[in-house]
Parts: sequence; C-alpha cells; structure tokens
Amino acid sequence: MALLFKSDIDRPASWIPALESALPDMEVRSWPEVGDPADIDYALVWQPPSGFLASLPNLKAILSIGAGIDHLTRDPELPRHLPLVRMVEPGLTAGMTEFVVMQCLFHHRRMLDYRAQQSRKVWQELAPVAPWQRRIGVMGLGELGADAVERLVQLRFDVAGWSRNRRALAGAACFAGREELPAFLARSDILVCLLPLTEQTDSILNAALFAQLPKGACVINVGRGEHLIERDLLAALEAGQLDSATLDVFRNEPLPPESPLWSHPRVIVTPHIASMTIPETAAEAMAEVIRTLEAGGTPPGLVDLDRGY
Ligand code: GLV
Repeated sequence: MALLFKSDIDRPASWIPALESALPDMEVRSWPEVGDPADIDYALVWQPPSGFLASLPNLKAILSIGAGIDHLTRDPELPRHLPLVRMVEPGLTAGMTEFVVMQCLFHHRRMLDYRAQQSRKVWQELAPVAPWQRRIGVMGLGELGADAVERLVQLRFDVAGWSRNRRALAGAACFAGREELPAFLARSDILVCLLPLTEQTDSILNAALFAQLPKGACVINVGRGEHLIERDLLAALEAGQLDSATLDVFRNEPLPPESPLWSHPRVIVTPHIASMTIPETAAEAMAEVIRTLEAGGTPPGLVDLDRGY
C-alpha cells in the first residue's frame, strides 16, 4: 500500500518520517515523487490543484491535512465517491483552543485599550469585568469548538455554543439551528466563529448578524475568511456596534497590503496561524483512520459531503 503526501506549506521533512513511523507497512511518497499514480491508495493533502486527486486511479480515500475540507470540495473533479476524512488530531485541537482562549482573554481583559493607553503613557485602570459576567458564544461545536468551549467554561466564562444540530456540552448553554441563532447572538459579548465553510455558513458574519450582538461586542474569526463580509465588519466597528475583532483567516490570503484591516486599531490580524496540524500526532491519527477504513469502519472526521463537513 502507498500513501502520497502533498502540500505546498507543510514540510515533508517533518511529515514523511512521522508517517513512516506511524504506518510501518505503508510506502510513503512525497509529491512530486509520485511514481506510478496507480500505486497510490491514500492521499494526505492540503490544497491540491483541481483534478489532482482524480488523476490517482486507485485511490481509496482522501485525507485532509487540515480540519477544513473546503480546499478539497472546491475541486470540480473531486472524486466524491471516495471517503474524505478531515484532520482530527490532538495537536490541532490543542493549538486552536490555545488561540481561542488567548484571544478571548485578550479582549476580555481589554488589552487593545491598555495598548492604546500605553502609547499615550496613560496610567489608568479600566473597570474590570468578572469572567462569569462575560458572555462568550462559540459558533460551531465540532471537535475544535467543543474543546474551546470546555476550556472557556473552566476559566469560568459564561459560555454558549451554537451548532446546526443540538449538542450537549457541560457548563455551556447550547443553541441550535437558525431559529435559535438570534437568542444565541443576543448573549454573545465575544463571538467566536469555528464553523465549517459550507453554502449555509458562507458570509454568515455579516451586518445583519452583527446587529444582533450586544452593542460593543467582539468578533473572533478562526473559521474561514469566506465566513466574514469584511466591509460589514469595518462598518460595524466604525458605528461602535462592534468594539474589536481578531481575524486569523481572510477571503484573500495573504491579506493584501491595501486592506484597511492591517492597520485598523481595533483589529488583530494574524496570518492563518490559529492552529497548525502537528505531524507526529497527525500521523498517528491518520494511521488510525487508515486502519479503521481498511477494517470497513467509520473513522473520526469522516466527511458527509451532502452536509458539507
Ligand atoms: C486550517 O485552516 C485547517 O483547516 O486546519
């Protein structure tokens, strides 16, 4: 059996040894050393060009290096009959929770205001808010969202989650479906987007949604750039409906130099680094996925293409 690794941003030097050690019976090939495309059973990929996966005639499954699979579903030639598995691995989950918690704490503790005060050499205490008085809303309660919720609850924030189908998460109020979105938004001082990108969630972070948040709310987008209408966010910041934002993902990546987001005083911009897949833990997870698929089972992270995630 052979697995092909292909990514333009993940380093084969870290990945290939990790995969070889986790999959001792598998031949691991690194693109462009594909050899005979007919040999490839599994493809572990990030942003492959359109038609690339369709060019592997004996592929048994497609494994995504990232948690998101929109980089695959935008390929019109995607072999949709094959199992497609998104990355579920502890390193990626831990990294995302770390970033979400860091940004929630940053905004909760008004660090943008203190930075602004520092630039003016102002020594002034701003009214503190207890964590249980700060309402955080997490959109998307999959692997990543549920873990972030758990940690935020531990920090004693007043946490709610929103998802398409109702979830039950200890210590958090769980809202579900479009009909419960207004109630969820009305109690989200800090809104975190960890949704998958689907037709239903594209552009969900828009003016109408911002208007339903408490005045002066903060938005943290670690989902996909396409979730957000950037000009609506800028207008909501301008109007004071939003206080601040952290954006890790953008419609155009790298964020173009002319984007006003770069220099906006109330926006934190990071270059799609909220979390990274860690080769060692990911290789173990993918080995388990392959063993499960070979045994005819359902691996964690198996995507339902009709649902879109
Ligand atoms: C990163 O964006 C991922 O999908 O894991």
